[in-house]
Amino acid sequence: MANIPTPHINAPQGAFARTVLMPGDPLRAKFIADTYLQDAELVNNVRGVQGYTGNYKGKRVSVMASGMGMPSMGIYSYELFNCYNVENIIRIGTAGALTMKLQLRDVVAAMSSYTDSNYGSQFNFHGSLAPSCSYELLKAAMDAAERQGVNMQPGPIFSSDAFYKQWEYTTTPVLQKLGVLCVEMESYALYLNAAAAGKNALTLLTISDSLVTGEALSAEDRQNTFTRMMEIALEIA
Ligand code: HPA
Repeated sequence: MANIPTPHINAPQGAFARTVLMPGDPLRAKFIADTYLQDAELVNNVRGVQGYTGNYKGKRVSVMASGMGMPSMGIYSYELFNCYNVENIIRIGTAGALTMKLQLRDVVAAMSSYTDSNYGSQFNFHGSLAPSCSYELLKAAMDAAERQGVNMQPGPIFSSDAFYKQWEYTTTPVLQKLGVLCVEMESYALYLNAAAAGKNALTLLTISDSLVTGEALSAEDRQNTFTRMMEIALEIA
């Protein structure tokens, strides 16, 4: 067991529940704690990356931000899995649709993650690593979505290192042909870290913009529609 506190999490052992929900944004972590958790306690605030532990329907649950991108998600998920005995991490985030089949506000469950990142090179594997979600968490999330009347779509997604594509971008048509649903920036690192630690991970995403139609949700719309995804994650925590 690595030493705690870690360089990025200043909390005692036992401060986190078995399951941690991870939005990208610290303010969204606070929103979840304020809106859904009873007796929520702030357990981390290093760099303003707020982490809370409280109770949801009598179940102990934690929520902490991952920050943006794979290096940031890589750090926090590593420390939670390997230093704080966390068993399950459920990322709840936003994604850009790569297919006409997805509309703004739709919810996706990421079964597997493609990437343009070099994050996996640390494993010294001479090939392509193909991390996937936990089947148990996926099954529980699909069941919870159905109970809540949410038509959640499971499938492969793309974890990208760049939000702004500043050069000729040739990846999108390939991914579309391969049936990849949407693009975000953290799942690949989360799924690899979970696999390496022998733990469980799942990513749930709300479509906030479309690379096909160019539409995007307003900031206000994001806040209002993301609660469906949060409630699925809380239900299975
Ligand atoms: N690209 C990467 N990450 C995202 C996007 C996107 O278009 N939308 C929401 N998260």
